[in-house]
Amino acid sequence: MIKINENYTKLKASYLFADIAKRVNAFIEANPDKPVIKLGIGDVTEPLPPACIAALHAATDEMADRATFKGYGPEQGYGFLRDAIAANDYAARGCSIAADEIFVSDGSKCDCANIQEIFSEDVSLAIPDPVYPVYTDTNVMAGRTGGDVDDRYQGITYLESTPENSYIPSIPEGASDLIYLCFPNNPTGAVATKAQLAEWVAYAKKNKAIILFDSAYEAFIRDPEIPHSIYEIEGADKVAIEFRSFSKIAGFTGTRCAYTVVPKALLAYDTAGKEHSLHALWNRRHTTKFNGVSYPIQKAAAAIFTNEGMAQTKALTDFYLENAKLIRESITALGYSCIGGDNAPYIWINTGTDSWAFFDKLLNEAQVVCTPGAGFGTCGEGHVRISAFNSLANVETALKRIAVAMKK
Ligand code: MLT
Repeated sequence: MIKINENYTKLKASYLFADIAKRVNAFIEANPDKPVIKLGIGDVTEPLPPACIAALHAATDEMADRATFKGYGPEQGYGFLRDAIAANDYAARGCSIAADEIFVSDGSKCDCANIQEIFSEDVSLAIPDPVYPVYTDTNVMAGRTGGDVDDRYQGITYLESTPENSYIPSIPEGASDLIYLCFPNNPTGAVATKAQLAEWVAYAKKNKAIILFDSAYEAFIRDPEIPHSIYEIEGADKVAIEFRSFSKIAGFTGTRCAYTVVPKALLAYDTAGKEHSLHALWNRRHTTKFNGVSYPIQKAAAAIFTNEGMAQTKALTDFYLENAKLIRESITALGYSCIGGDNAPYIWINTGTDSWAFFDKLLNEAQVVCTPGAGFGTCGEGHVRISAFNSLANVETALKRIAVAMKK
């Protein structure tokens, strides 16, 4: 008799954003005359930068010609893209990351979900709360947790982000083997200083642990003091894996291209205490289970690093940050405290009320979709997240409707 992976039965019935989409679609079906504005899932609305489009067209033409056609590419990504990433995202910031430590993929969601495969089933986990649900759910699927008790999976050390600690979790007292961090944070929009990240690097070194650092929103940082990469911290290349994505910085959510940095200095141990290279393990996994991102998409991604590409992506992130500023100012003016939106595309609002009830109220009375904080974890209760990814006209209309619905 075929049996299921029973770890799946510990999970909530559906993934957070699938659950929200279901509720929103039901509302739209029941109220076809009420146009809904989506500021929930962080999905971009503006088209790809012209430099990326030109590269995509040129690469498509290459695929149409026998002389320049490409079949399978290198699983880890083409050299032209890995070199551009190493030079622009790392060397330019004083981080020594080599091109062959960069693994190009079709998304950070998949990478941060898949990476846990190369670690033992019994590693101990430290995961933020609130958190991008993929980190938790994929470890539940892999059997690294107990059941869900009062909305918390047993066995995880939760790193709490609350108004009391300005939404920056403290270092845990005990040792954890695998630590998830995300800055600029999804969902709170909080950013970490170099000194705060240095504490995590020291903690990981002391405990022979690994940090999984999700830096998907780094391009929204405007404060020059805030690090964009964990490798800006001395010694982080010995304890951290970093995830980056082109989704939010260049409108690639539908185009799909991202990368993961696994430095060669990273080590982990087998049960006998023998050292193993995580770079070698991830390379083995990547080449076995992945056949690379398509050539035209990698060409489009590489165009981000040209002079015009950089100017265009900066304009794109500036545009969303203007929306974020508007949202933050309007919500603050309504009497709510919030963070984020200055170095991140998310605004985290402390409503002090049941977050699903707040979500329902905004949907029913303002026809605006937000994300209920409780969907990101226990500490998210009493909060909602509003995303800045939409047109200016939609953001302005949404804010007018929210002001009417939420006037305190
Ligand atoms: C979010 O809204 O949290 C993100 O869009 C999810 C993702 O990037 O997968």
